[in-house]
Amino acid sequence: MNDERAWYLLARDADSSPVAFSHFRFDIECGEEVLYCYEVQLESRVRRKGLGKFLIQILQLIANSTQMKKVMLTVFKQNKGAYQFFREALQEDVYICWIHYCNSTPMTDNNGNNNEKPATSTWS
Ligand SMILES: CC(C)(COP(=O)(O)OP(=O)(O)OC[C@H]1O[C@@H](n2cnc3c(N)ncnc32)[C@H](O)[C@@H]1OP(=O)(O)O)[C@@H](O)C(=O)NCCC(=O)NCCS
Repeated sequence: MNDERAWYLLARDADSSPVAFSHFRFDIECGEEVLYCYEVQLESRVRRKGLGKFLIQILQLIANSTQMKKVMLTVFKQNKGAYQFFREALQEDVYICWIHYCNSTPMTDNNGNNNEKPATSTWS
């Protein structure tokens, strides 16, 4: 997290206490410039209020305004809450946000298709 390439998006509550963050980087994946979301974490008390979705939307806006080709992130398939969040809540943004499952099964995209290699998508 102290890597000099790390960028952070921080959300604070009304008392200025941090309640959520995203660690992201500008990177190259498969020859394309991407905004890679390494982490999005919310304190339990602020979950299920739309903040997670809002943070991802901000990442998408940052990627768009910095000419990144896409937002990428990694989700463990076993993380059921995150799976539901990324697969269902962001479904309308599937053309922007691809999900890779880090387990022994083939990588699967938001449509349930198995991919031999990381799925790619572009802004449109
Ligand atoms: C996953 C996480 C980022 C989601 O953020 P959030 O603010 O709670 O999610 P939102 O309120 O934006 O949820 C939008 C929709 O996603 C779905 N969703 C979100 N969390 C869910 C959960 N735990 N179980 C099932 N569906 C979920 C729901 O459809 C939800 O809409 P609804 O509340 O109207 O039903 C947050 O729960 C979190 O920080 N989890 C712990 C860390 C983690 O697993 N991070 C992801 C891997 S890096």
